[in-house]
Amino acid sequence: MDAIKNLINRRSSNNLQPPFPSKKEMDLVYKSALRAPDHAWLRPSKFLEFKGESLKKLSSIFENYAKNHFSNDQLFIEKAKKAPFRAPMVIVLVTEIKQHPKVPPIEQMLSTGAAAQNILLALSAQGYAGIWKTGKLALNDNIAKYFDLDINHQILGYIYVGTQSGDGRKVPKVNIEKFVKRY
Ligand SMILES: Cc1cc2nc3c(=O)[nH]c(=O)nc-3n(C[C@H](O)[C@H](O)[C@H](O)COP(=O)(O)O)c2cc1C
Repeated sequence: MDAIKNLINRRSSNNLQPPFPSKKEMDLVYKSALRAPDHAWLRPSKFLEFKGESLKKLSSIFENYAKNHFSNDQLFIEKAKKAPFRAPMVIVLVTEIKQHPKVPPIEQMLSTGAAAQNILLALSAQGYAGIWKTGKLALNDNIAKYFDLDINHQILGYIYVGTQSGDGRKVPKVNIEKFVKRY
């Protein structure tokens, strides 16, 4: 697919169904992700892939977290438990924050953010779709340990992956002049 067309026409999708990418296709996705800009080549990004039976494991991780941190919110506990089954595959976006004199944590998290966009683009280029979600299950100092990760890890969100069901959302028209100032 034409690279610029893919950049302009990529859409997130909330309606994801099988099939999901094969191992070979996901290898291209991760290769693309790992070409995100990365100050000092610290390699801070990690990806945890859940699919098939392992979605049940992700569900129990979410449920445990929700029960421990939102014990009064039964609605959220149920929502968290069901969340992984919204798509046939889920990629957890992780930044392993490393100590470096010139590369603060924010730069390392931004690198994972860029990797996330490369994931979405590499999925789209191969005919698949995805959506990046966060909510209460990400971007906090507690969730990483539920994945058996040390406190130097941040969970930046979840990319739900699959095949777009139906037509999906239209790509919005953008007036670039509203966002660009040329000097
Ligand atoms: C860091 C980040 C977190 C997001 N979290 C959520 C979320 O929790 N739930 C949600 O519905 N969309 C979330 N979104 C937005 C979607 O991923 C998506 O970008 C949005 O629906 C617009 O669709 P588009 O990417 O096709 O323009 C998030 C986006 C970003 C960049």
